[in-house]
Amino acid sequence: MTTTSPARRTERLARRLHLLMCRPEHFTVSYEINPWMDAATPVDPARALAQWERLRAELQRLGHEVDVVPAVPGLPDMVYAANGALVAAQGSVGVRFAHPERGGEAEAYARWLEEHGLGPVHRPAHVNEGEGDLLVVGEHLLGGYGFRTEPAAHREVEEVLGRPVTSLRLVDPRFYHLDTALTVLDDDPAHPDVAYFPGAFDEASRQVLQELFPQALRTDEDTARVLGMNAVSDGRHVVLSPRAQRYAQQLEQRGYVPVPVDLSELLRGGGGAKCCVLVLRR
Ligand code: ARG
Repeated sequence: MTTTSPARRTERLARRLHLLMCRPEHFTVSYEINPWMDAATPVDPARALAQWERLRAELQRLGHEVDVVPAVPGLPDMVYAANGALVAAQGSVGVRFAHPERGGEAEAYARWLEEHGLGPVHRPAHVNEGEGDLLVVGEHLLGGYGFRTEPAAHREVEEVLGRPVTSLRLVDPRFYHLDTALTVLDDDPAHPDVAYFPGAFDEASRQVLQELFPQALRTDEDTARVLGMNAVSDGRHVVLSPRAQRYAQQLEQRGYVPVPVDLSELLRGGGGAKCCVLVLRR
């Protein structure tokens, strides 16, 4: 197979994605489970809804299919659909949250998937927060741990899906999920491409990333700390925070098309564009 250097590809092809999202109808910050959350500062619910609608419209405009799971009262973080499951070509893995506040979301997502032909959904024994910490990049399955998902869950996912998980250790509490530290830019096994902020990983994991993706785009702290890495890519368009300007430039140089969408209100819960979508791969 001929592979082109990811850094030099010029013609980027978009893939049509099937996404699951959850309207932030009950979104608020009433508890604090990551350093971004401040329960003392009230959120603007109308603004959160408007920003989310804009994100959905943008994704649809790019040609993606968006399904919506009904929001459940009392589960304010349910808007972060990435944490609802991992739906891979080989099967669906449900989630088990690290914090009891989010516990109720697991069944809401698992049931929706089963009712929509994406089951059976494996109910995990170990803590795993879905696509927040488990990312598919071509042939690779990357697993974050250190704050939420347990390393034992990586082994559990390997057994369920029958493919190896590469464990990566997160060390900075601001980047508590893998999808806050790394963007999957291209999921095509022929030319997988990622971007990541090295400072979010321990030394050994940086080494692993370097070996797996020698051509990866490395980003800086300024990008990471506006949650710039938390972006949705279809292989061509990258939906990201408008605050991540340097990242947008780097992506353009690499042949991608940055699509800025402001989600400042949802950032108060500690999530950006990628947190708001779950990719359905079957
Ligand atoms: N407040 C949520 C939490 O701390 C935010 C989740 C963000 N999701 C993500 N995929 N990074 O669990």
